[in-house]
Order: sequence, then C-alpha cells, then structure tokens
Amino acid sequence: METDILVIGSGIAGLSLALKASKIGQVVVATKKAAFDSNTAEAQGGIAIPVGKADEKKHIEDTLKAGRGICNEKAVALMVKKAHDRINELSEWGVKFEKEKGGFKRTLEAGHSVPRIVFNVDATGRAIEHKLVMLARENKNIRILEDSMLIDLAIGTSGSCVGASFLRENSFIQTISAKLTILATGGLGQIYEKTTNPHVAAGDGFAAAFRAGAKMENMEFVQFHPTKLDVPSNHPFLISEVLRGEGGTLINWKGEQFMQRYAKEGELAPRDVVARAIYIESQNGSVYLDMTHKSEEFLRNRFPTIYAKCLGFDLDLAHDKIPVTAAAHYMCGGVKTDLKGNSSIPNLYVIGEVACTGVHGANRLASNSLLEGMVFAHEAYLDAKGKIGKLALEKAPEMVFSIGDSKDTANPRQEIKKLMWEKVGLVRNEKGLKDAIDMLGKMDFKAKPSISKSINSKSLEDWNMAQTSLLVARAALKRKKSLGCHFRTN
Ligand code: SIN
Repeated sequence: METDILVIGSGIAGLSLALKASKIGQVVVATKKAAFDSNTAEAQGGIAIPVGKADEKKHIEDTLKAGRGICNEKAVALMVKKAHDRINELSEWGVKFEKEKGGFKRTLEAGHSVPRIVFNVDATGRAIEHKLVMLARENKNIRILEDSMLIDLAIGTSGSCVGASFLRENSFIQTISAKLTILATGGLGQIYEKTTNPHVAAGDGFAAAFRAGAKMENMEFVQFHPTKLDVPSNHPFLISEVLRGEGGTLINWKGEQFMQRYAKEGELAPRDVVARAIYIESQNGSVYLDMTHKSEEFLRNRFPTIYAKCLGFDLDLAHDKIPVTAAAHYMCGGVKTDLKGNSSIPNLYVIGEVACTGVHGANRLASNSLLEGMVFAHEAYLDAKGKIGKLALEKAPEMVFSIGDSKDTANPRQEIKKLMWEKVGLVRNEKGLKDAIDMLGKMDFKAKPSISKSINSKSLEDWNMAQTSLLVARAALKRKKSLGCHFRTN
C-alpha cells in the first residue's frame, strides 16, 4: 500500500495531525486495535490552559518546577503560548468543555498555582477521542486501518523513514510506503504490573523507534499516578487527581490522614511525592481516598463516570472510602524530537506520549499531556506541509515472517510486569536495576522473533514490552541521583 502520510496511532496527537494533514495529501491512520482504543480516551482530568495571557508565565513556571530543572524551556513556552489556539480548534471541531460566565470553567490539580484545567465532566479524553474518531472516519482523505499492529518502521536506502510494516488482524503482514511517517503510538504503562493505562499502551512505538535507530531521551522518567482504583479487575481505572483538587483526602489503613507527614502541600503535593507516599504507606495496609465529606449530589454531578465505576465495585463515593494504589501512568521521556516533531531519523515525526519534546523534564505537570499532544501535532503538521511537496515516494522494504501460534515463542509478559514494578518502579536501587537489566536482556532475546519463528500480535507485543522495559531500566541505572519521578535509594 502507498500513501502520502502514514500516521501510526489514533490518540489525540495522531488524529489531530491526520485531520490537518488530510488537507495536504492522502493519509492512512494505522492503529493497533479499534480507533477509539487509546490513552487519550481514558484521560479524565482535562487540559491545562493558561487563564489568559496573564497566566502564561505562571503556567510555564509551574511546568518547569514540576520538571525539576531539566525541561526544554523553549518547548514549554511554545506549548503554553499555543494552548489557546489549540483548545479553540478542539472547540471548533465540536468538543464540548464546561463553560461558565466569562469562559471555560476551570479546575485544579497538583502543581498548578491556579485552577486552569479545562474539562468535560470527568471524562475529557473520551469526549475528545469520540469527536476526533468521528471526524477522521468522515474524512475522505483519511483511511483508518484498525487492528494493525506496528511491526517495524521501514528505513530506506538513504536512511530516512519510508513507511512501516504492520501485522494486520493478526493474520497477515502489510507494508505501507509513505513520504512522511508520524509515530503517535502513545505510552507504555502496560510494562508495569500496576498501571492506569489501557491494554494497548504496551510501549510498541518506543521499541520500534529504538530498533530503527532513533535517539531516545529521558526514558527513566516514568510517572506514577497516586490513585488508581485498587480493586481486582483486568481493566485499570484511574481515580482522577481532580478529586483531590476538589478536596479529597488520603487515609491510610489506620484511618490517619498521612500526606502532611510527607509534604506541606498535603494531598496536592507534586504527583511523584504523593505517589511515593502512597506506595510507602501501602507496604503496611490499604490506602484510601476519602470524599465522604462531599454531598452525593455534588459527587454524582461532578464525577459521574468515576461514581458509576466505583458503584460497580459496591463502593459509593459519597459514603465509602475508595481503595487506591499508585500505578504507572505516563512516560515523560521517549523518542527525542525537535520543536517541530522531527526525530533523529529523516521523514519520521514523533508526537504525543511516545515523543520526548522536553516539555515534561523529570516529571509531568498534571493535564499538560493532551495539550502537548495537540500542540506538537500542529507544529509537526506545519513542518510536514512545507516538506511534502519536495518528497518522492520510496518503496518500503517488505518484511518476511510467518504468522501463527508461535508455540516456540516465550511468554514473558507477567514476569516483565512484575519485574518492572518491583525493581524499576517507584523506588529503585542499583542492585535491583542491574538484576532487572540482566533478566530483561534474557527475555528480550527469548521473545525476539526470527525468520524461522512465526509471530503473532501477542508475541510481538511481548518483545516490545521486553525491549521498552530494558530502555527504562538502563536509563534508570545510568541516572544515579533521584530526580522527579526517578527515585533512587542509593
Ligand atoms: C488525572 O485526571 O488525575 C490525570 C490527569 C493527568 O494525568 O494529567
């Protein structure tokens, strides 16, 4: 198959770029499962937007403070200054945000010096994703290929990216040649035993970019969210930080409100501090989020999705304390890009969570991720627009694998997740990291597909998980001092 622009992934970054790119060429969007399946669709909190020009400076400062001094300041300033344009674009596309007299309603999350988060009840990402998928499906210049799992990026004779190969419907391989390729595959939470991320977020894009030779950056900075709903379930569910923004408290197994012991900001301390405190407290028993001081009416109206989800587990937000745990949530690092989304491989743009624009540094400020996805997708689109007319299509090399049950392929998934949680999680030390690297190296070798073995989507994902985990563990070993969401005890 041939196209002008190949977008891999269907979250906010991939789809917003696809919609714009459809004005300059034919676009194929290839996505691992259904188009709607993405981290974007699960985002609850909202989008951080400065409260007018006057707040831009503060929004930049809050982002830099969260990032602990290693953010790319130019990237942060660009993101904040373009925030209004991008939120207006989403509104024009028909995404609804809560309004009040004078503009958007705003809410607060940890690390923000003022309430600046624009939202759609407690399911902002779902509202955005619905609209973007709908618009992309209606667009005649966009073809969406679902159930298409990235195998590898295709590198042409001159060393530039010329498309990618996919395992489609777990039954055949299709190579797509493209003038420009956009990697927008999202995050990697699934490499951890506990995560807020959906099943699709298994780190495929990080592994594929690394195999293609792209420069990676800040892979040690995995952000852990303090409050995933801690119930036995195969489908992770986030309890948004906004609940603490609205006055929720954290209680340990003794009934003690413990956060003041860890930080003067209490429940609204930076996310890494709260997540680590919960992790430490939970070594002795369960930790709970308490909203019972709020009225049932308020909670049902403000948090309908979370309220309903908890009720499904016999937990009533208005009357019960909700068990929570820290869990892997967001990758602050990734494939290194410039301010226009260019990776180190010519003609390969990388946007969204899989990219490292430098905005997040060592720790992401809450609700900056949807914004970063939108802003850098737009910058990449502008760059692609200037470039595409000068490019000729080069045929991507075909991949040869047989597809099948992969009986001889190792199945290291559970082992990887446990290892990552225990040794490359919220609290790390040198010995644990070295052990993890040793074991992950063996798993990577076992999971690696070869021409003689058949592959399937599961074995391919296992291989990506092993490789992505190795990238995180190696980066974590290299950074000897604690910083932001990377915490070392030695
Ligand atoms: C949340 O709603 O707590 C998550 C927001 C974010 O990760 O930015």
